[in-house]
Amino acid sequence: MPKTETILVTGGAGFIGSNLCHFLIDKAFNVVCLDNFDDFYSEEIKRNNVKNLLNNQLFEFIKGDIRDSVLLDNVFSKHQIDFVIHLAAKAGVRNSIFNTQEYFDVNVNGSICLLETMRKHNVKNLVFSSSSSVYGNKNGKLLETENCDNPISPYAVSKRAVEMLNYNYHINSNFNVVNLRLFSVYGKNQRPDLVLYKFINLISNNQPIEIYGNADTTRDYTYIDDIVNAFISSIEFLKTSDSNVYEIINIGNDNPISLQQLIDLITKTTKRNDIKIVETKFVKGEVTNTHADIDKARRLLNYKPNITIDYGIKQFYEWFEKNGIKGVKNSIDKTA
Ligand SMILES: NC(=O)c1ccc[n+]([C@@H]2O[C@H](COP(=O)([O-])OP(=O)(O)OC[C@H]3O[C@@H](n4cnc5c(N)ncnc54)[C@H](O)[C@@H]3O)[C@@H](O)[C@H]2O)c1
Repeated sequence: MPKTETILVTGGAGFIGSNLCHFLIDKAFNVVCLDNFDDFYSEEIKRNNVKNLLNNQLFEFIKGDIRDSVLLDNVFSKHQIDFVIHLAAKAGVRNSIFNTQEYFDVNVNGSICLLETMRKHNVKNLVFSSSSSVYGNKNGKLLETENCDNPISPYAVSKRAVEMLNYNYHINSNFNVVNLRLFSVYGKNQRPDLVLYKFINLISNNQPIEIYGNADTTRDYTYIDDIVNAFISSIEFLKTSDSNVYEIINIGNDNPISLQQLIDLITKTTKRNDIKIVETKFVKGEVTNTHADIDKARRLLNYKPNITIDYGIKQFYEWFEKNGIKGVKNSIDKTA
């Protein structure tokens, strides 16, 4: 019988990671999930995200930090890892402006620690979660070949830096790498600082929602199931390609909507016509528009976003009503 592959998911207890771990387990992969329950948002939420997996024989949870090379060495010695999906990071663009050193320590130095351990243990297949923020402020559809020399937040710089580090490990140590540039992910287990969770939470608590700048900014919101499928397809792509892979691939919805359209959809879904909106000044670090060109993803990964924004918001709202932790203080409040 062919061996079941083992995938290390760093940051596996977070929003995207926990959805991915559930999916990988459903597909009968062995999953090693590493997460340090970083304090960007509550540990309770992250423990909750993976609690249903803890008794599954295919799943092992390790509480630990990607910057801990001794721990990583032990993980790679104990498990025969076939693929690494690297999601662990300090997320959030605004916070990164005020905590730049910490962001670089985790996102860049932590990634180097992981890459070095992979090289030591001869594990060379990597899928990395990069971000649309690397493009900086641009108009129109964003192509992977676009110049990325002007990111506008330290978070974005850290993501671009890791893409380039991955390139170095590809060139110098024959790593096979897929960097996925993710566009505004939303859905169940979402981070409480992200706009959809934040707005619905505030509305549920009869609080006004805050808009930074105006409601004309646009985002290419992409549903979590489409994102998870792109990660699985990337693993398949690495498995079926000849060696010597280094790719950067946008994963978006190719259907951006404005913040005002998002608010209108939330109004429709929650059936709340009494939403109060407060306009505050534009915050630094946030780009104004994103729109993924997904032709490369279609071509290489057979990627096709299946979930429309209307349906996705309904799905999120149903999840929030049953499982969302209401009234959580979100991390943006720390720095606003
Ligand atoms: N959510 C999005 O819209 C989006 C868009 C683009 C890229 N990304 C990237 O995708 C990845 C996952 O994002 P998310 O939204 O699920 O965020 P998240 O904060 O929910 O997940 C990140 C996880 O990494 C863990 N982590 C942080 N520092 C760590 C460390 N030093 N060692 C081990 N674990 C650590 C956190 O505890 C958390 O569980 C991140 O790299 C993020 O930058 C997310």
